Amino acid sequence: MEEKQKIFPPGFLWGGAVAANQAEGAWQADGKGDSVADHITAGTKTSPRRFTEQIRPEENYPSHEAIDFYHRYEEDIALFAEMGFKVFRISIAWTRIFPKGDEISPNRAGIAYYRKVFETCKKYGIEPLVTLSHYEMPYYLCEHYGGWTNRQTIAFFLRYCETVFREYQDLVHYWLTFNEMNTLVSRFGTLLAGGILPEDGEDLFGRKRLGSPETVAEKSRRFTALHHQFLAGAQAVKMAHEINPENKVGCMLSAAGVYPYTCSPEDVLEAQAQMERSNWLCGDVCVRGAYPYFAERFFRENGVQIRKEAGDDEILKNGKVDFLSFSYYSSRCATADPKVIQTAGNMMLGVPNPYLEASEWGWIIDPKGLRYLLNELYGRYQIPLMVVENGLGAVDRVTEDGQIHDDYRIAYLSEHIRQMWEAVNDGVELLGYTPWGCIDLISASTGEMKKRYGFIYVDKDDEGKGTLERKKKDSFAWYRECIRTNGASVLSTNKKRINYDKKTG
Ligand code: BG6
Repeated sequence: MEEKQKIFPPGFLWGGAVAANQAEGAWQADGKGDSVADHITAGTKTSPRRFTEQIRPEENYPSHEAIDFYHRYEEDIALFAEMGFKVFRISIAWTRIFPKGDEISPNRAGIAYYRKVFETCKKYGIEPLVTLSHYEMPYYLCEHYGGWTNRQTIAFFLRYCETVFREYQDLVHYWLTFNEMNTLVSRFGTLLAGGILPEDGEDLFGRKRLGSPETVAEKSRRFTALHHQFLAGAQAVKMAHEINPENKVGCMLSAAGVYPYTCSPEDVLEAQAQMERSNWLCGDVCVRGAYPYFAERFFRENGVQIRKEAGDDEILKNGKVDFLSFSYYSSRCATADPKVIQTAGNMMLGVPNPYLEASEWGWIIDPKGLRYLLNELYGRYQIPLMVVENGLGAVDRVTEDGQIHDDYRIAYLSEHIRQMWEAVNDGVELLGYTPWGCIDLISASTGEMKKRYGFIYVDKDDEGKGTLERKKKDSFAWYRECIRTNGASVLSTNKKRINYDKKTG
């Protein structure tokens, strides 16, 4: 019997993703206030990014210029359109709309800017998918209100949401609340997701403190901040629906499958506990509208006390998301054995998997893990899913004739697309795919430029030098063909073997 052609479902949303603080630059243009990202220096794989209270002239803060998307959005969106994007995931910098965060009236220049961006998308038939908060909280709110630990922040956030929901109701219908809100479940998300400031000069992820156990008070503050985001997210969902019933609002998780390192029951239980904490806790609150059954014991045993108020449960119940979106870069292993080494991976710690390779930055590469996760998520929630980040951060070389042959990226993405297709055929309802950093941008974890994800190369180095000129990589034409054929061009080709971490020789 002749085999049916493999293809994605009609209307599948192919596209790409960026975040304001990693792409826009123009950090003080047209009345923008500084965000928490503007206070984080550049780093490298081995020397962490640092937070500084004041902007120091001798330091390099990559968000200040980034790739200057702010001034080049027309050129960039035209290139996305040339690839055939159906959707473009972008975030609004809250500080362009409310520079300090607690103002009563918005900054009209910021509003006008995003209108132009969304109108440009519309001109090309590209649907904007807008993240309301992507690691770029107004710094003023962090400094003066304690970030998300303060319940007042909810009202400020909702004022911002109402403003953008109303302003862009003719242009935007897909929204995401908080980028990777589940990073707040661990200490890594304290600053970027929670807006809880560390000491001046401390590293981005508070690694200095990671050697010492987190106090019960610190933990409670972190989970209170998360609770406030749950409330804010739920109310934003409700508000978005009231303002425009066409709005679809999703939550966004940093998702990773957690495998037991061995089949010992201890490792299996540890893996299960990690799945619960890192994926299901936030997923359950946003999708099911209530904390999961295991949360109570987890909080009790860790001494976590969340500052809840009467009526909070009702708020959560009334603001369930329409779809669940997530970033996917890695899976990880879990073990109850403290002797097994830890490795890096999408800002979380994990145990190396002897069956899998890693990227040059040590992120474990696991395309089949995406199929596994899609099935796990869909099995649990039964609502549409969307992969809104995925990709290979790698060093690219420009050849003498100005080409960038990124076959390793093509191989990486192809494998993930094949596994997404398998999941769709398993029965998972998948709305779309927006690979991360569709144009090269600043790395969130290291602040580097050389950790590139894009189909489009940006001429800029880690010191900030370069013309910012855009060049198409080989993956540009490859992705255009993938979109044109709705995945068929990728699904009909065979897997190409790449040794990821050795690729640069
Ligand atoms: C996700 C973030 O964790 O991973 C993005 O949402 C980030 O902001 C992406 O850029 C890739 O991480 P990195 O550190 O390679 O930029």
